[in-house]
Amino acid sequence: MSEEALENLLHEDRTFPPDPDFAAAANLSASAYEAATEDRLDFWDQQAQRLSWDQTWNQTLDWSAAPFAKWFVGGKLNASVNCLDRHVSAGYGDQTALIFEAESGDSRHISYRELLEDVCRAANALEALGIEAGDRVAIYMPMIPEAVVAMLACARIGAPHSVVFAGFSAEALRSRIDDAAAKLVITADGQFRRGGAMPLKPAVDEAVSQAESVENVLVVRRTGSEVEWSERDVWWHDVVASASPEHTPEAFDAEHPLFILYTSGTTGKPKGILHTTGGYLTQAAFTHWAVFDLKPESDVYWCTADIGWVTGHSYIVYGPLANRATQVIYEGTPDSPHRGRFWEIVERHQVSILYTAPTAIRTFMKWGDEHPKAFNLSTLRLLGSVGEPINPEAWMWYRSIIGNDLCPIVDTWWQTETGAIMISPLPGVTEAKPGSAMRPIPGISAEVVDDDGNAVEPGGGGYLVLDQPWPSMLRGIWGDDERFVDTYWSRFPGRYFAGDGAKLDKDGAIWLLGRVDDVMNVSGHRISTTEVESALVSHHKVAEAAVVGATDDTTGQGIVSFVILRGSSAEDDGLVDELRAHVATEIGPIAKPRQILVVAELPKTRSGKIMRRLLRDVAENRSLGDVTTLADPTVMNLIADGLAQGASD
Ligand code: WTA
Repeated sequence: MSEEALENLLHEDRTFPPDPDFAAAANLSASAYEAATEDRLDFWDQQAQRLSWDQTWNQTLDWSAAPFAKWFVGGKLNASVNCLDRHVSAGYGDQTALIFEAESGDSRHISYRELLEDVCRAANALEALGIEAGDRVAIYMPMIPEAVVAMLACARIGAPHSVVFAGFSAEALRSRIDDAAAKLVITADGQFRRGGAMPLKPAVDEAVSQAESVENVLVVRRTGSEVEWSERDVWWHDVVASASPEHTPEAFDAEHPLFILYTSGTTGKPKGILHTTGGYLTQAAFTHWAVFDLKPESDVYWCTADIGWVTGHSYIVYGPLANRATQVIYEGTPDSPHRGRFWEIVERHQVSILYTAPTAIRTFMKWGDEHPKAFNLSTLRLLGSVGEPINPEAWMWYRSIIGNDLCPIVDTWWQTETGAIMISPLPGVTEAKPGSAMRPIPGISAEVVDDDGNAVEPGGGGYLVLDQPWPSMLRGIWGDDERFVDTYWSRFPGRYFAGDGAKLDKDGAIWLLGRVDDVMNVSGHRISTTEVESALVSHHKVAEAAVVGATDDTTGQGIVSFVILRGSSAEDDGLVDELRAHVATEIGPIAKPRQILVVAELPKTRSGKIMRRLLRDVAENRSLGDVTTLADPTVMNLIADGLAQGASD
């Protein structure tokens, strides 16, 4: 975040107290904070009782092997039973679970009974393909109901899923399949995007051709486009549709792995974040109920995330379904076929709770108020934000134009690693300030600390740490315990280092300031600078590359790259496009640099470390900071001149 933005935040003092009507009916009251402060573990014990357990636990938390936690030790449960069977058994089989809004505008309601039957069929089909508890299954799918079915079918048979965002490239998919040694990949022939059919299976074919662990590829027919077929491929409609709609679930240990989800770290190699069953589901369900104030009888909930990200796991699949929500899932993009698409969906399905990202909100602001104003949004009663800091201006726009000044906004801070919401206002309970995630929710403890690990005074800034274990915490990095300890637990021993900068205001509210490590946050997607640098350097014309995240009005941060070409390569007209396309192939279109600048030298310290801070200054048009530590202080002038020239061309 730029200095200027930080300055502005320091002057933000608007406060919105809870609305009395909302408060009167809110799921939670302030007593939850007291209860949790009095006995944190007992508080989580109570929350775990929202779930159905086949066997109750005998110890709430085992922290003796910290930072490797065990929650609800000895307990047994099945996540898919908690999301489906128990609601059907309780008489809610006819309640709509999913309202699927296709890209085309067609929509379809799927009841809890139908979803359960589909999940049972898929679970039977997976077992028939030889998938057993503990086997890893990669899922590379568009936002269609089968994606939810696939995840829950894996959960039902205890096979941890690894969902890979369908916008990632074949290469990114391959490295994730390999790292987890996935035995099966579930995908679709293609996906609909802006009215057209885009292929998906070719990327899987390419990834799998080099992935030895994969025995089968299970393919949903979505677009009907031609696909290549090999003997390891199986059609979903052949093996799932014909399978029995009944399946006897097995109860798994509370610490049985539920899923792996890869996220970018500060090196080029993504980290497989591991989540287990009982603690994860407890916190996903509790937070979805408490922070979104979900009323299963009357609410229509819509989270606009993709299942490829953690938000899709916790707040489309596990949290909402455990709470018997009725929710919209949407296949397409916000601007197809028109820029009012989201608001049309809110009106059509009478959405009451909307959870989206600041980057989307800023885009809607830019598109103009006429789009939301063309639709009836009066069913909305609560708005949520996640993924990156929301600037006060976007927060106020969200509140007034989308929420008609009536809806509480929950700015929820959390991470793939935390599994569920950690810091957020509670609607009807606490006040909110535009741009602040406010305080840790009941049962969670966080601090803002200085370089030495001392808690800062109100008004001070530093690093966000979590000083107590929590139920949905990551249990490790798949196959790399050492990296888990190094990345999260060594900067401030005994405490979890989130990688985010934060400020504590005079009232003790927390303001997130963005990442402090070499991870960028582009439209809410985490991408490491090293990953993009490696992608650029893997191009035959590039000798060296440095990548920084520069503040961007719409996407939060934009990727700016500086490259040095190989001796024999000359800069030509098509080069920048070629390099951008290359990054898309290596990682995915989300990682395409916003700008690529060809330079003769990069700023380096005498020990050879690239000084990204200086490159960020240049990319954000700021006057340069201290350059005296550079091996060659004139380098920056050359780069800045090059940039100025590029701008005037
Ligand atoms: C950022 C997404 C400010 C933060 C759930 C974090 C936020 C990273 C917020 C995790 C928020 C997420 N305010 N920043 N409300 N929510 N972040 O793993 O930098 O995709 O470390 O999880 O997003 O991103 P991830």
